Amino acid sequence: MAVSRRAFIGGAAAGALALPAWLVACSDEERSSGSSETSAPAYDGSPGPADTFRHGVASGDPTPESVILWTRLTTGDLDVAEADVRVEVAEDPSFERIVTTSDHAASASHDWTVNTEVAGLQPGTTYYYRFQALDRTSTVGRTRTAPDGGVEHLRLAVVSCSNYAYGNFHAYRHLARRADIDAVVHLGDYIYEYADSGDEQESYGQFRTLEPRGECLVLDDYRQRYAQYRTEPGLKELHRQMPMIHLWDDHEFVNDPAAGGAENHQPTDGDYDERIAAALQANSEWMPTRLDGDVIYRTLDFGDLARLAIVDRQHRFLWPGEPGEDAPDAPVLDGEQRRWLDERVSSNEARWFVLGTGSTFGAIGPDQAAGGWGAEHREPVFTAAEDAGVENLVVLTGDIHKAQAFDLVRTPGVYDPATGDGTIGVELSSGSITSPGGVDLDIGPQFLYSQGLARTYLVLDLTPEAAQADWFGFEDSLKLEDAEPSEEWLAGFVTSAGANHLTQADEPKPTVPGPELAPEMS
Ligand SMILES: [Fe+2]
Repeated sequence: MAVSRRAFIGGAAAGALALPAWLVACSDEERSSGSSETSAPAYDGSPGPADTFRHGVASGDPTPESVILWTRLTTGDLDVAEADVRVEVAEDPSFERIVTTSDHAASASHDWTVNTEVAGLQPGTTYYYRFQALDRTSTVGRTRTAPDGGVEHLRLAVVSCSNYAYGNFHAYRHLARRADIDAVVHLGDYIYEYADSGDEQESYGQFRTLEPRGECLVLDDYRQRYAQYRTEPGLKELHRQMPMIHLWDDHEFVNDPAAGGAENHQPTDGDYDERIAAALQANSEWMPTRLDGDVIYRTLDFGDLARLAIVDRQHRFLWPGEPGEDAPDAPVLDGEQRRWLDERVSSNEARWFVLGTGSTFGAIGPDQAAGGWGAEHREPVFTAAEDAGVENLVVLTGDIHKAQAFDLVRTPGVYDPATGDGTIGVELSSGSITSPGGVDLDIGPQFLYSQGLARTYLVLDLTPEAAQADWFGFEDSLKLEDAEPSEEWLAGFVTSAGANHLTQADEPKPTVPGPELAPEMS
């Protein structure tokens, strides 16, 4: 199945995203109903190693009728060129009610990963899944499709900036225990390409040794780095318990890409384009994401309650299209993405239009027009939203390593922080999982919250009436503890529908019982 970018984008509009050919080519879907009696794929060799599924299982990009499911085989000493892999999807964690099975092939050409769309599912439904291969069975994963139609409630988690070297992913582990999260949105810097700084143990940032020790430059480097991350207990458990919607930022490739190169790409690092291609391939193998070639920007719809559009600010530097697109002062979004976003905004019918981006979008200082994307690049988004009658704009951001909440000011001269006059939306930044943050000293009246000294994740609770953002986390230094530190609610901010103006919440939205978590890993 060859899928052009345009066809992919059109498919996205209909909510039925297309997949790269290698994701689906090996699928031979079967269906069974109401039975746990399925046979493992035919295999007459020696069993795979006990840790055949050592990198766990994962799911992502839920639509109302499908999700992406992922795993990877570790073949150990086995001399096999290819392995058959079966995935079973059930309504219950005991697999008494299997709804679909499908068979796939794994091989070294895709680093032994399986990354497949399972379709024909029910909207707003939790499913459990497991893989079988080489006479071994994986741990049980849990995922959830997107709701459809009239939706009264949605709860998304938002995370970013998870540097393995900088400390344990305790925040991921806390989040993985929440059964009431529909999906986790990762806004980039899922991995960092940096080199290990060696045995000198820098004062900050060298808590865990990286694999590979050097900077990621070629395909095998990036594959090793993803593999290391996927053995991290907190991240492994997060992937196992809920679907992820991932957007890359710069560190999935290289720090601060710029025209034809990057801050962290030196002449001795080899060919730049080959490096970017290697990083892209490893990402496509290891992440449960619906990519179309180099296109990651996409929309995910949650019935009439929310449309999530995530945009890729790195695209114009990594793969410039039109002349001058990679110039430093060019618009944040390349031309094709710009047109795509306008269409996504204008066709929105959901109560909340949620824009996800890797970097700060709104004004970040006392000058309510400056900073972030820059006023000249924000304005077209505001205009599109206004023209489309978008009544509620929520921007989710990562990158800055601080939990932040602020109003998006359209008309600085009119803006009143007490009433919200002059705003057009709100912005919420997740903070980081481990990357170090700092303190803001020079903030404007639109800023309601800025916390860079804790490691945090954000929970966004959406109803037709209101959106509330709650940050949970712990003191920065505690990420270095082997024992998991307890977390606390750090702050919450809420905007009513139609207000586009944040006010502080007195308490977090309570956790509620959700569908049963996947059972403990055996
Ligand atoms: Fe980061």
